Amino acid sequence: MADILVTGGAGQVGLELLAHAWPQGVTLHAPSRAELDITKPESVAAVMASRHWAAVINPAAYTAVDKAESEIGEAFAINALGPALLAQATKAAGIPLVHVSTDYVFDGSGTRPYLPGDAIAPIGVYGASKAAGELAVRSGNPRSVVLRTAWVVSPHRANFAKTMLRLGATRDSLGVVADQHGSPTSATDIAAALAAITQHLLADAEAPTGIYHFTNAGQTTWHGFAAHIFARAAAARLKTPAVKAIATSDYPTPARRPAYSVLDTASLTRDFGIAPRPWQEATGETIDALIQASNSSAEGSRSA
Ligand SMILES: NC(=O)c1ccc[n+]([C@@H]2O[C@H](COP(=O)([O-])OP(=O)(O)OC[C@H]3O[C@@H](n4cnc5c(N)ncnc54)[C@H](OP(=O)(O)O)[C@@H]3O)[C@@H](O)[C@H]2O)c1
Repeated sequence: MADILVTGGAGQVGLELLAHAWPQGVTLHAPSRAELDITKPESVAAVMASRHWAAVINPAAYTAVDKAESEIGEAFAINALGPALLAQATKAAGIPLVHVSTDYVFDGSGTRPYLPGDAIAPIGVYGASKAAGELAVRSGNPRSVVLRTAWVVSPHRANFAKTMLRLGATRDSLGVVADQHGSPTSATDIAAALAAITQHLLADAEAPTGIYHFTNAGQTTWHGFAAHIFARAAAARLKTPAVKAIATSDYPTPARRPAYSVLDTASLTRDFGIAPRPWQEATGETIDALIQASNSSAEGSRSA
């Protein structure tokens, strides 16, 4: 029997962790944010003491990249202090911590996929707060894995695929940034990778630890990803806009983003046997589910 504590269970990755088909004998517990606020030492201590946990998975985060530029304290509390408290608590309990981080710890000047050991140099507050969280996790509990991921989509909450489908339903044309390169990634596949890593750590006290990368395979730009989303929408006979390629400089945002943040996932495959599938296939499932959900809600409102 293994009881696993999941933080941020209402988030994109958290919800997919809860939906994942865990083996028999594993039970996931995802307290609400009101029950477990990872920035509050007393909250972390109470939840940690409430049960004999086998492991903690931490996908909870402050993920509003632009807002972070003006909410620095909040971003660092959730993305750095919270992970530090979890690292301390899991170290004291003698259990592993699996933490989620981001491609935005890199500055984007790379010209080949980033390796986990490459120098990090965040160019925004969100990336800096996540970088501090990585350090806190790795130094606070050596029995930890930090899994960096990127460009997450899921049927839940706000993400690029949902935004494109929403805007595409009403606009005739959309300008989408074509000079930022990365790998769109399904939250379902991130959850499966986190589950596999956690199970390795539970099964083997000598299992590898450290920083790893997981994204779906291949790379594109936000413009390429938008084109993929609208190709699926067109196949489902939805109205789609013309998608124009624009430059980052044409779409100013409060936070700067890395121009290139493709992650090399080879060490994850080598050490944990996890082989990411192509981004088109993985995100295609999410996009189709979103299209289906919007079709059924449109039908529901027509028949209501
Ligand atoms: N989204 C992306 O494109 C992306 C890209 C790269 C890496 N990542 C990383 O992937 C991980 C998961 O991201 P996601 O997209 O699933 O995030 P998300 O959908 O924004 O969910 C984050 C969750 O954390 C919870 N949370 C925030 N502050 C908390 C606190 N103090 N205590 C407890 N819970 C708290 C949120 O609660 P509420 O429900 O109350 O808001 C939410 O449920 C994060 O580490 C993120 O940095 C994400």
